[in-house]
Amino acid sequence: MCPRNRNATSPMALPTQTLSPDAPGLSVAAGILRAGGMVAFPTETVYGLGADARNGQAVARVFAAKARPAFNPLIVHVSGIDAVRALCLVSPVAEALAAAFWPGPLTLVLPLRNDAGIAPLVTAGLPTLAVRVPAHPVARALLSAFGGPLAAPSANPSGRISPTTAAHVMAGLAGRIDALVDGGACPVGLESTILTLDGAPRILRAGGIPAEALAAVLGVMPLSPGADPARPLAPGQLASHYAPRAALRLNALAPAPGEVMLGFGAVPGDLTLSAGGDLVEAAANLFAHLHALDRDGRPIAVAPVPPHGLGAAINDRLARAAAPRGG
Ligand code: TXA
Ligand code: MG
Repeated sequence: MCPRNRNATSPMALPTQTLSPDAPGLSVAAGILRAGGMVAFPTETVYGLGADARNGQAVARVFAAKARPAFNPLIVHVSGIDAVRALCLVSPVAEALAAAFWPGPLTLVLPLRNDAGIAPLVTAGLPTLAVRVPAHPVARALLSAFGGPLAAPSANPSGRISPTTAAHVMAGLAGRIDALVDGGACPVGLESTILTLDGAPRILRAGGIPAEALAAVLGVMPLSPGADPARPLAPGQLASHYAPRAALRLNALAPAPGEVMLGFGAVPGDLTLSAGGDLVEAAANLFAHLHALDRDGRPIAVAPVPPHGLGAAINDRLARAAAPRGG
């Protein structure tokens, strides 16, 4: 007997289907995405590994498939500026950049709307969302067939180079994802430029749109990556990245008097990451449960989470949340 195990530790080999980029293939792909599955698809930059950005479990599976060591926030792909306005607060500067560069290889980091409906795991609990409108006809056709926002990091195992052909995707992720839409080689081959408009415009990652082209629209040269040591590049690396107001006590087996409890597996709590000990479910619940318990205001005791699979990223994030912070 080999019990079916959907957690991140020993993912069942999935029979990864290769789909053609025509209407029948895209309709199958959209159905898989609606059911919470993962589909790799071409964009003009690199292949993305897409999942429904509103479905926390689907997004958690993407982290598991890539074996990402930490929950770095993901880029959300949408069909156009109207869809962006439904998710984010779009300033006049952002509107101007959108008009100039979308669809295309520019990602904007914008304030997330309260009613956006994006799974907290996508933004790793941040109040901002990285969003872009891709130009590739297959990506656009898939977004239209699916009809919602797609969270999609590059479709490669963590730490490996980004895939620009269907063969690259299969070499890295065959057996770990549901399907791949084969759209040939990606024309840009380099990831999108990420620009944050939180404060002075600043490039977080150089990419397909050069700084000079952004400057022509902004009227000023955007700051370059690393220009401001007080604002580190990768939000996932910040100790204060998710900082609940309440103190966190890790590896707790029961709450002390005055604490609220976040459970896992056999350790119960006021809320539980996963009563069944499923790390995919736990990842999907992590940020939403921390936010909910933090609203209570009492210190939070957290049950032990095993260190394997997605547990590594969950523990990384919990350790950052528990880290002492400066005033
Ligand atoms: O070209 C691309 O951008 C490709 C294709 C598939 O669209 N996607 C891609 O995604 O490169 P990924 O997940 O490999 O890179 C996402 C980057 C990370 O470096 C992350 O730190 C940053 O985007 N990011 C995401 N959300 C952010 C946020 N709210 N604030 C700052 N940075 C963010
Ligand atoms: Mg990547």
